[in-house]
Order: sequence, then structure tokens, then C-alpha cells
Amino acid sequence: LGGCAPRQKAAPAKSAPSIVIGFSQLGQESSWRQRNTDSVLTAAADARYRVLYRNGDSSQEQQIKQIRSFIISRVDAIVFAPIVETGWTAVLKEARAAGIPVILDDRNIAPAERKYITSAVFTDAVGEGQKAAAFVKKKFTNHQGPVRMVQIYGNKDSSVSVGRSRGFTEGLAGDGRFQTVATEYGDFMISKGEEVIRQLAQKVDLHTIDVIFSHNDDMTLGILKYLKTTDIKPGKDIVIVSIDATQEGIDALRRGEINADIECNPETGPKLMNLINLVLNQQSFASSYYLEDQVFSEFDTHLATVKRRY
Ligand code: AHR
Repeated sequence: LGGCAPRQKAAPAKSAPSIVIGFSQLGQESSWRQRNTDSVLTAAADARYRVLYRNGDSSQEQQIKQIRSFIISRVDAIVFAPIVETGWTAVLKEARAAGIPVILDDRNIAPAERKYITSAVFTDAVGEGQKAAAFVKKKFTNHQGPVRMVQIYGNKDSSVSVGRSRGFTEGLAGDGRFQTVATEYGDFMISKGEEVIRQLAQKVDLHTIDVIFSHNDDMTLGILKYLKTTDIKPGKDIVIVSIDATQEGIDALRRGEINADIECNPETGPKLMNLINLVLNQQSFASSYYLEDQVFSEFDTHLATVKRRY
């Protein structure tokens, strides 16, 4: 996959200021998302591309309408961060019929629908799950087990929830001590994180849980808020592993309330703009690009100097 844009005829060469990109961001659910939006908009401004920016308000229906409006506006390229993996085929076929290249930001879509996508700049969801698993393994090196775990996913049916969970499961495979006893969806939001852990506490005695793997820092902040109303000390009585590495996440790590924070790198903008440049100039490009992530944990000695942009 990849290597050429869907345009059949070579488009007349355009200079950067006349190029228009339609960008459908999936929502504003987290501080990570805000940083990702800024990264894309700033990189586009630096490249002197004009952007039609739309926010999907966490709704696939909204995102489909936005992509359709970009097609009607005859933009030069469409970038979108898909909230879920499936259900895009019809609108992507319309984009293809109009000869407009479509590029994914951050999240993936299902393999059957990928054939309508020109290329992508992904965050590494599976890798993040594997890094979370590696931390948990290290933390419980001398523990007999069982290790009872809860996972709080973000958006249902999103590639990041699926990928992080897959990476986590793969990373712990073959070690029978680790058992996932409950999973919930918290939509990557602080309020939902707090709500789902409160509801879970009605069904499962959290005193019997050793690890909470929360798929983003916003949900983790909600979980911490709830745990602080109980006698359970987060980071001590329950190991908390989170994703994103926002400033608030790193601050909680420093306070010892979470044990590890795996970065999800939000800086997709520069790679996206390079890619758009290659696509529009009919040059070769890969089917996908991935960003690298760091791991921050209680085992690090340099946490005091860590400064985040989001
Ligand atoms: O798709 C990336 C995830 O979406 C981030 O981890 C989360 O904070 C965001 O909402």
C-alpha cells in the first residue's frame, strides 16, 4: 500500500499558499488531543498550507459530514483522526472518486477500509501497550502472583483501545500470574474515568486489585480523584500505569500516585505536512509512518527535570 496518490491525472503544480487541507479532528476529549490539534495546525501554518479545521465532537457522524464538506469544497488533501475503526467506506469512496488523497492522523481504520487511504501518520498504540506490560513485569518481578488487573480503555471500537490492549496482552503472554479481571470504557475523559471506576467499585472490591492500566492520563486523573475518596492509596496499594505522559500525568508520577506513564507522542503535524508535500508532488512515500514514544516511570531518576508541552 502507499506510494502514489489517487489522482489519475497529474494536477497542475500549486504553490504552498494555494494548497488547502481539510482536517477533521475527532474531538476535544483530552489534553493530548488539544496538543495533537496544535501540532497539526502549527505545522500546516509553517508549511504555508491553508487548513479547514473541523472538530468532530467525538462523533463519527460529525466526522463523516465534515469529510463530505471537504470533498464539496474540493480541498487538495484530507487529514482525519478516525474516532472508530469501521464505517468510513462510503465517504472514503466519495473522496477517491473526487481524486482527493486522504491521510490518517494518529488512529487507524480497519484493514478492509484501508485501501481508500493514501497514507498515515500513526501513534504506536500496540507499542504503548507493550511498554506498559514491560513496566508491570518489572514491577512484579519478585511477586509470586496472582496479579489482578483492571484495564480502562478509551473509545470503544477505536484502534488505540484495541492496539493498546493487544500490546499489553502480548507483552504479558506466557506469564500466568497476570490476570485481567475487569475492563471498562472511559472515552479518554476525566469525568468518565472517575465514573467508571466508581461503578466498577460496586462490582469488584478494589482492595483485591493490584494494577490499574488506564489508557490515558485524563481518565487516570479521574480514577485518582475517586481513589482519594477511599482508603486505597494510588501508586502504593494499587499500581497505576497510564498513557500519554501529559504534564499532569508526570506531576502525579512525581507525587508517587501513579507508577508509570507511557508517552503517546502527539506531534504528528510535521510528518503529516512532509507527507502531504510528497503526495501532492507525486513523489514516493510509505503507506504509514509511526511516532516514537518514551517511558516515564518510578524507576527513572530524572523525573524532576521532565517538562511536557501538554
Ligand atoms: O488516540 C490517542 C489517544 O486519544 C490519547 O492517548 C488520548 O489521550 C486521546 O484522547
